[in-house]
This record gives sequence, structure tokens and C-alpha cells, in this order.
Amino acid sequence: MAISFSLLYTDVSRAIVQGIQAGIDAQTSGAVAPSITQELQQIKVQNLTSIITIIILTTILFGYIIARISLAPTRNALTSQKQFIGNIAHELRTPLSVLKTNTEVALLENHVDPDIKRTLESNVEELDRISEIINNLLSLSTLVRPEHVEMNAVDLSAIVTEAIDKLEELARRGSHQITVRKGPETSVWGNAAALTQIVSNLVKNAIQYSPRSGNIRITVEPAPNNHVDLIVQDAGVGIARKDLFRIFEPFYRGDPSRTRGTGGSGLGLAIVSELVKMHRGKITIRSSVGRGTTVSVSLPGVAGRGKVGAEASAKNVPNEIAVDFSRR
Ligand SMILES: Nc1ncnc2c1ncn2[C@@H]1O[C@H](COP(=O)(O)OP(=O)(O)OP(=O)(O)O)[C@@H](O)[C@H]1O
Ligand SMILES: [Mg+2]
Repeated sequence: MAISFSLLYTDVSRAIVQGIQAGIDAQTSGAVAPSITQELQQIKVQNLTSIITIIILTTILFGYIIARISLAPTRNALTSQKQFIGNIAHELRTPLSVLKTNTEVALLENHVDPDIKRTLESNVEELDRISEIINNLLSLSTLVRPEHVEMNAVDLSAIVTEAIDKLEELARRGSHQITVRKGPETSVWGNAAALTQIVSNLVKNAIQYSPRSGNIRITVEPAPNNHVDLIVQDAGVGIARKDLFRIFEPFYRGDPSRTRGTGGSGLGLAIVSELVKMHRGKITIRSSVGRGTTVSVSLPGVAGRGKVGAEASAKNVPNEIAVDFSRR
């Protein structure tokens, strides 16, 4: 502000001096003198504009600083909350695995009553579900300190092959066809375990939210600017626009009429988005209800190592959400 007032003062003085000089010149040459008031008016407008711009910029800067300061306790609280959840999940793991082992041992008995056997089998299934939720919670909590995660050159195609092998049984149960297309150079700078989790969570979703015998297409290919794209495409139930904006929230599940029977906990995509963020990648989801979903993840390739780095409307236009973590 002080700067703009001193600028205004300098400009006004200069205009007066120039005006007087022009008047003298005009008198000696006989031409018409330019009006000093007109020029002063122009300077006033120019300086007023710069003062207003400076006021707006200062307000934005103060707003940003105040928002950062006031959000700091919330950010810290969220971090502690994640750590707390991680600790609980860790503590629950041991008793849970004891419970599961005991139940499986009981099932090995030859003389178990068929009714009791069915109950025990269903208990094992539920215990598996709880284990998966606990593992997901642990993943979320370890992501609190992504700087501690080791990064290397990893071939994303190999990760895809490995992840699909593990999901083969799930795909077979629903007679899903999985086709994979791999490009020539698909090495990314990342963490193998984290990348495996990204691929398997996305492929699992594609399987779970597709009807029986659905086709799932997976593509891994080099992309511009030294990136590698992972694209998981299904022809399943699709995601409604209202859900699309919230599916990265932990525990958020889409329309119950579409998710019924899939038994998830709403953590898969929350973890995927954190992991993509950790790799400074970008995730885009395009979906049409009843037609299918395409999830594209773009990750920095090995050569890009160290570099930084929705919408829906009319009926047939797909819903889309994009989250770009390449710029921080
Ligand atoms: N490929 C997909 N097709 C249709 N809906 C999907 C797809 N992927 C995700 N969704 C929707 O997004 C929601 C959140 O997905 P997310 O993977 O986070 O959780 P989940 O699958 O419900 O449970 P979890 O992955 O923890 O077992 C799902 O409940 C579902 O409604
Ligand atoms: Mg899921």
C-alpha cells in the first residue's frame, strides 16, 4: 500500500512538471497545450487500478496464510487419527489370526455336525473379511509417512501380471474375461508393494462391479511426458455422478442397489488415491451408469524420476473425476 501511494505521488508530480513544461513549450511554439487535468485524471485511474489490485492480492495472501494456520490443527488431528487407527488395527491382527486358525482346526474334525460346520465355514469367511478391512486400515495408516516408503524402478507390466494371477480365482467365479495389453517400456519409479495394491484394488473393483461374464480390459502403456498409464476398463454397473465425487472418501460406498452382495468396506479407492498421490501420479475415473467404468492412472516413468510428477451432464456423457497429484 505504501509503495502504491508513493508511486501515485511520484506520477502526479511528474505529470505536473511535464504539463508545465508542455505549457511553456506550447506558448513558445504557438501550439495548443495538452490539458494537465486530463493527464492527472488518467494517472489517477491507473493508480487506482494498481491500488485495488494490490489490495485484492494482499487479501488473498492473508486469506491463504490464515487458512493454512487455522487448518494446521485439523491436519495434525487427522494424522493422529490415522496413526490411532493403525495402532488399533495392528493390535487386532494377532487375536484375529488366532481365532481363524482355531476355527479352521475345528473344521478339520471329522465328526462335526453339518450345521455347526456351516456356521464355522461362514465364520471363516467373515474373519477373512475382517482381516482384509484391518489390512486396508493398516495400509492407510502407514501412508501417513509416505517419505519413509522406498522407491525403485519397477516394471508395471510385471506387477499387473502378478496381481491378475492372485485375482484369477475371483475372476473365474464370475466367469469374467480379463485381457491385458502391454506397451514396450512400462517401468515406473515407485514402490512395488504399493503398485501391486493399486492394480489389485482397481482390478478387484472391475470384477466386483461387473455382471457375470463381464469383460475387463487392462492396458499398461507409455504415455507422453515420461509417464506410464495403467487403464482398467470394465463394462459393469457404472458409477452415478453423485457417488463419483465421493468415492475416494474412506468408507464411502456407492449406491447400495449396485454394491449389494459385493461385501466391500469402501476403503479400496481411498487407498488407491493415497498411493497414487505418493507416486505423484494422476487418477481419472470415467463412468456411465449401466455401461461401465474406466479408471486411468498415470504414473511418472523411470526417466521422469524425481520430477514433480468432473464432470457429467447429458445422458450418454460419462461421469468423470480427475485427481492430479503431480503438482504440489
Ligand atoms: N469399477 C467400478 N464400477 C462401479 N462402481 C465402482 C467401481 N469401482 C468403485 N466403484 C464404487 O465406488 C465405491 C468405492 O469403491 P472402493 O473400492 O473404495 O470400496 P469398495 O469396493 O466398496 O470396498 P473395498 O474396496 O474396501 O473392499 C464402491 O462401493 C462402488 O460403489
Ligand atoms: Mg473396492
